[in-house]
Amino acid sequence: MPAEAGVTHLPDATIGVPYLRCIGCDADVTAPTEDFACPGCGDRLEVAYRRRGAPDADVLKTLWHARKVSSAPTDLSGVWRFREALPILPAGAAPVTLREGNTPIYPLARCAKSAGVDALLAKHQGMNPTGSFKDTGMTTALSMARVKGFQWVGCASTGNTSASMAAYAAHAGMRALVLIPEGKIAWGKLSQSLDYAAITCQLKTDFDGCVRVLGEAIRRFPLYLLNSVNPYRLEGQKTTAYEMMEQLAWEPPDHVIVPGGNLGNSSALGKGFREMLALGLIRKLPRLSIIQARGANPLVRSMKEFAGERMEPVRAETRATAIRIGNPASWKKAVAVLRETGGACEDVSEEEIGVAKAEIGADGVGCEPASAVTLAGLKNLVRSGFVKRGESVVLVLTGHCLKDPEYTMDFHRDAAAGDQSLRKPPVLLDADPAAVIDLLNRMGM
Ligand code: F0G
Repeated sequence: MPAEAGVTHLPDATIGVPYLRCIGCDADVTAPTEDFACPGCGDRLEVAYRRRGAPDADVLKTLWHARKVSSAPTDLSGVWRFREALPILPAGAAPVTLREGNTPIYPLARCAKSAGVDALLAKHQGMNPTGSFKDTGMTTALSMARVKGFQWVGCASTGNTSASMAAYAAHAGMRALVLIPEGKIAWGKLSQSLDYAAITCQLKTDFDGCVRVLGEAIRRFPLYLLNSVNPYRLEGQKTTAYEMMEQLAWEPPDHVIVPGGNLGNSSALGKGFREMLALGLIRKLPRLSIIQARGANPLVRSMKEFAGERMEPVRAETRATAIRIGNPASWKKAVAVLRETGGACEDVSEEEIGVAKAEIGADGVGCEPASAVTLAGLKNLVRSGFVKRGESVVLVLTGHCLKDPEYTMDFHRDAAAGDQSLRKPPVLLDADPAAVIDLLNRMGM
């Protein structure tokens, strides 16, 4: 990180010297495979930090807070603002940033009532530059790709990773290859990839099939992999946990609830909380619970059937297409987070997702279907007694409500569905004020 990139950079305050560690055999990996596996045992890698005397927690908090009034590009990023906790780029290398992070936490009053808790907060990662949490990890991993001299970056995606990667690659003047499952991604996301000028390939397979094809392609072409097996992505994504704690005055909630797809995000947030506890930035870990769609629930099954020791891929099917994933790459990391934080792992039905999404919308916040599994899951966790009425809960909403308007339209236009109270289909009227007034009168004062 060049000194001029941030007005308040304190190099001595970094949390340690970063290196890649294998989560399976604990090896210090200097030459990972193209798909970021350990060359020794094949397991996943994570960025770990060798401590050189712990930085003072209060110094870090003051530093990060001070950057909020800086106008240096790296300070304006809600990810790089926390750069003492990130792998440092070589001197002279500026990060590729679109001012990601700095996302709001909203109270959800109606949703709290329907879930049966006194208060409910949502950290809205859909308020990132391309409308999803992926931007927080893309800034770190794509910056790494540029430092390493790659021209091309690539990902397999259910739509949000590709939208994000395409934007950051375009901004950096790099080329992007997107592999997406044909017909199974939301139009908002597909259109972003086109708009940001990526080479977009729709493959006649599902997300898991796209991952397989890309895995082969990166062995034959110099393409930097930007799926969440890339440990530098998860480093950026973990800063969401840091930012959440800063917003909550470093007081951890009792529960954080996230959707689970490829399981990178839950792993990243868990890592963030674990690090903050070790650094003395927070005094306890929140329980981090992971919710999946019932038709795409390999982690739920792994926890129930194999106590998290084994993962059997499933054939995934859900209209929450972002998490239509049957063979999640980061399942071992996610299992570790569940164990360490004492979180729950549950699945929810398609109907529950639709209702939860409409409820989040009716609170004026809105999100895409995959994000709504968090509220649907919370309701079940309150019912089972895992979450108590007076406990503090933060839902992580991962994507913006404009990502998948087709889903929203179908929900509101479904006149055959059981409960119509949340459905607000457009009303067709004559272009006549009397017709509008008549409608309002029928609605009541
Ligand atoms: N929510 C949204 C909106 C997503 O796009 C994703 C994943 C998830 C949740 C799940 O996060 O995979 O880290 O467990 N989308 C990926 C993609 C897979 O390609 O856009 P995860």
